[in-house]
Amino acid sequence: MSERRLPWVIKYRPRRVEEVVGQDQAKKALREWLEEWLKGRVPSKRVALLYGPPGVGKTSLVEALARELNMEVLELNASDYRRRSDIERTVAVAAKKRPLFRRGLIILMDEVDGLDPKADEGGIEALMNVVKETLNPIIMTANDPWREHLRDLREYSLMVEFRELTNTQIIALLQRICESERLKCDKEALAYIAERSMGDARAAVNDLQTIAEGYREVTLDLARTIVKGREKTLNIWRTLSGVFYAKQAWMAKRAVTQSEEDYETLIAWLNDNIPKKYGDPQDLYRAYESLARATIFLNRSKAGEWGLLSYVFDLIGPGVAFARVSGKILEARYGFPERIRLMSQLKARRELREKLAEHLARRLLTSKRTVKNEVIPVLTVIFRNETDPTMAARLALGYRLDKDMIEYLAGPRTNDVLKAVEKIRKAKPEEIEHKKAKEEKTRKKESKGLDRYI
Ligand SMILES: Nc1ncnc2c1ncn2[C@@H]1O[C@H](COP(=O)(O)OP(=O)(O)O)[C@@H](O)[C@H]1O
Ligand SMILES: [Mg+2]
Repeated sequence: MSERRLPWVIKYRPRRVEEVVGQDQAKKALREWLEEWLKGRVPSKRVALLYGPPGVGKTSLVEALARELNMEVLELNASDYRRRSDIERTVAVAAKKRPLFRRGLIILMDEVDGLDPKADEGGIEALMNVVKETLNPIIMTANDPWREHLRDLREYSLMVEFRELTNTQIIALLQRICESERLKCDKEALAYIAERSMGDARAAVNDLQTIAEGYREVTLDLARTIVKGREKTLNIWRTLSGVFYAKQAWMAKRAVTQSEEDYETLIAWLNDNIPKKYGDPQDLYRAYESLARATIFLNRSKAGEWGLLSYVFDLIGPGVAFARVSGKILEARYGFPERIRLMSQLKARRELREKLAEHLARRLLTSKRTVKNEVIPVLTVIFRNETDPTMAARLALGYRLDKDMIEYLAGPRTNDVLKAVEKIRKAKPEEIEHKKAKEEKTRKKESKGLDRYI
């Protein structure tokens, strides 16, 4: 690869900690934690979980710190810890290894939130065992550390938050690159790229390189034509930061309109996190008032007054952002609205159980209570059978269970059962159709019979 073709995100990767822009708190926390290890003391948390949006310096900081502290980095990627056996082969071995040439060994597991919790059965569990006993510091990075399957891991981790970079920080970074590439870069063009990058330095540097390599100069017009397409949806983490750290109203509004979450979820998250960020009682009061009004408008707009939706955006975005008049912001971490999530999950599960009980009661000519106490437990065992989903599939077809019902019964084995159902369906379509018709007849009879008793 010629020098010119080298991606600038690699060429200009920060080498020293000082070159990592911003992230002062993360730098301090991580350095202290690594120094603890180097002194031969094992910190109470053996894992550091670096979290934050992409392209803000998580990986770069680890590499730069390691270089400064003269530590070795063993970088593992997702394929090294997908399954239990991978973990035992890689992470677990590394966790016990003594560094060969340097003062210490850092095990870096990048982007652990990318793990697919279903495909990694046993993986997380194996990882937890390593985490509790490792003799070397393990650093993990994640964009979204609040995912359900990372919950146990969070408890054993030093949580280190990375912020999205400000426009000013990104502009400074781009300017440095322009200088060393001897490129003519217009200030407005850099500002435009920075703004579009939404705090993601990797994206900004890539955009800059695209323009520069095509045209050898970076003007606002070029930037507008080339960069304009970037439309991103924001995950909840970025939405919250977008609201709480908004400097101008439009930033807060964009954070909520571009969120991938629906408005109820957003309100729930804000509701739980406002007190973590706002300490001043008057700020709190204003923020909650804004949220309460948003809820009212949301309900009215759902009732048909759609024009009100725009006020909802205003109230949960700028409304919450500018409730903070005191200027003070707390450094607490965002928290998952556990209660809300649990409640809704439980409620959904309860409703499904009711639906299933009713469905089966009708088919089995028995009471819902009997179904719940005696039939569902047995079906659960059959549906979660590890070796052969065929029986479960036959029952699913026989009882005409829908996907949700199958999922309720089969849990982690849902996919296997669904596949088996498909297989049977494909194998003998006519026979099944025939059976279905026959079954439908009996069912009608059954329910008639049942009606008499109700
Ligand atoms: N804080 C930062 N300071 C300087 N450059 C950065 C920073 N964050 C990201 N970059 C640029 O973006 C690229 C990717 O950064 P990286 O550390 O891999 O981000 P992350 O791990 O947070 O996704 C780096 O090579 C660098 O060019
Ligand atoms: Mg990274």
